[in-house]
Amino acid sequence: MSRPIGVFVAWPYANGDLHLGHVAGAYLPSDIFARYHRLRGNDVLMVSGSDAHGTPITLKAKQEDLHPYEVVKRYHARFLEGWTRLGISFDLFTHTHTKNHIAQTGEIFTKLREQGDLLVGTQQQFFDETEKMFLPDRYVRGTCPFCEYDQARGDQCEKCGKTFEAKELTEPMSLISETTPVLRDTDHYFFQMSKYNQQVLDYVSKQSHWRPHVKNFTQSMLEEGLGQRAITRDIDWGVPVPEAGWEDKVIYVWFDAVIGYLSASREWSAIIEDEDAWKNWWKNKEAQGFYFIGKDNVPFHTVIWPLELMAFDPELNLPYDVPANQFLNIDGEKFSTSRGLAVWLLQVLDTFDADTVRYYLASIFPETKDANFSWDELIARNNGELVAAWGNLVNRVLGFAYKRYDGLVPTPMELDDVDKALLAKIEAGFDTVSKSYEEVRLRDALKGAMSLTRDVNKYLDEKAPWTVFKTDPEKAGTAIFVAMRAIDSLKMLFAPVLPHSSQKVHEFFGGTDKLFGESVTETRIEGDDSYPVLRYTKTEAEVQGVDRWKMSDLQPGTSFSKPEPLYKVLEKEMVEGSDE
Ligand code: MF3
Ligand code: ZN
Repeated sequence: MSRPIGVFVAWPYANGDLHLGHVAGAYLPSDIFARYHRLRGNDVLMVSGSDAHGTPITLKAKQEDLHPYEVVKRYHARFLEGWTRLGISFDLFTHTHTKNHIAQTGEIFTKLREQGDLLVGTQQQFFDETEKMFLPDRYVRGTCPFCEYDQARGDQCEKCGKTFEAKELTEPMSLISETTPVLRDTDHYFFQMSKYNQQVLDYVSKQSHWRPHVKNFTQSMLEEGLGQRAITRDIDWGVPVPEAGWEDKVIYVWFDAVIGYLSASREWSAIIEDEDAWKNWWKNKEAQGFYFIGKDNVPFHTVIWPLELMAFDPELNLPYDVPANQFLNIDGEKFSTSRGLAVWLLQVLDTFDADTVRYYLASIFPETKDANFSWDELIARNNGELVAAWGNLVNRVLGFAYKRYDGLVPTPMELDDVDKALLAKIEAGFDTVSKSYEEVRLRDALKGAMSLTRDVNKYLDEKAPWTVFKTDPEKAGTAIFVAMRAIDSLKMLFAPVLPHSSQKVHEFFGGTDKLFGESVTETRIEGDDSYPVLRYTKTEAEVQGVDRWKMSDLQPGTSFSKPEPLYKVLEKEMVEGSDE
């Protein structure tokens, strides 16, 4: 039976290019998970978009002397290019400065205000007297009150990691005018989070399937107690506060960004002209929503977003799982755009095929602890696993069969125990590998498929059809038949991770249909604005909800085509700035 599966993916700030840390943290895991469920015939809705607001965007705009929306448009377009080239299959990838999103955020804000969850209060904020503007925390630097690092950011010290309020900095300085700011009173709306503290704690306590680091972190945060939190800001870029007299303030980026999951689902409904379609993921109690994020985003998804949902409409589904990843390091150091320590997605795709990048990253996903990226390992895994174990298996079996059996799947003699054992093992693999995919243990899923691949290679070493053929072509044909069935099955187990090459294998076997639909760029027009989005078109099988997750039943006598190599052998010289 078809299940509604929401695949909700962190909204990247549109202030810079994506690096492999982003890809391994959220985008690739979510895509693999979504593709698995599509093969199962489940009803997948995978949405995200560019995070258009917040000081990351306004600071970048200031630096380049551009309007923030220009910055957003530039990086949004580059995100779309990255997704297309890597094969990230969003049902919809939009952004948060759409009229749709602004309206949805305004609706939630107003409802919460009317029911007394948002109260006005006064706080002190740094004010830049030369620029005549309030300074968001990130616009101030100064000396850390804890470790005395003299370049600490206004919200957090990058040296010791402690968080604090900007006014606690000693010797504060405005990043805009480089003058000393003064403290001034300013009014803001404060979210009365403590009202929902117990309710969120009850919900979180029941989530026994959450990753331990996600659950423990959230639980201790709730046990410490939630206070109130300012959810408006004194900047001129963001979602306007929907109330007269508040024109010079906007809603805090984190309050609006998480709403994107809901607003994008509704935008997708509007695009497909089925206004209620989104409810299948948001109001149907059978639906499960999975949120793919990096660990720094955890509190916003396990506390703030559930709180907003509960307060706005108790009928809306809360997150079912938040499989947050740890970080990806480069040779032991954290990816950092500001320190230039990053491997850029678009550059990597200039050199490597998407499936090579997907394979390597999936094999090291930081699911339980930080992972380490290394060019040497990328090359080693590509050459040793993708090329040597899987690619060569496909090529030598299909190539041999093509030449020796006239491009027709050979007819087996009666299967012996070794043949049967191999096929049974692969059949069982559909259950074990599926369990890994379902539980978002994607590294394990890939490992499972690769270990079955090695089993097929061992089987062939033992059966040696290439030599047996010379004396007993029928006997050799049995092994080739068994191996072909195994390969046609393995293509399915690999497909979520390696969609492009699994499609090729599918076509070698004569498949004329597509294993997956495709996300393509299209233009959305909203009144006087227009912007590109990525949108997925389903295959017929996906529309029908066909479960394709099963053992191949490849028949003797079926014609197939001459295989082409699936993967390229990589040379060390191909990697710029490699480990040496
Ligand atoms: N823009 C944030 C970041 O890059 C992530 C926002 S995820 C959201 O860290 F869904 F909450 F928006
Ligand atoms: Zn410090």
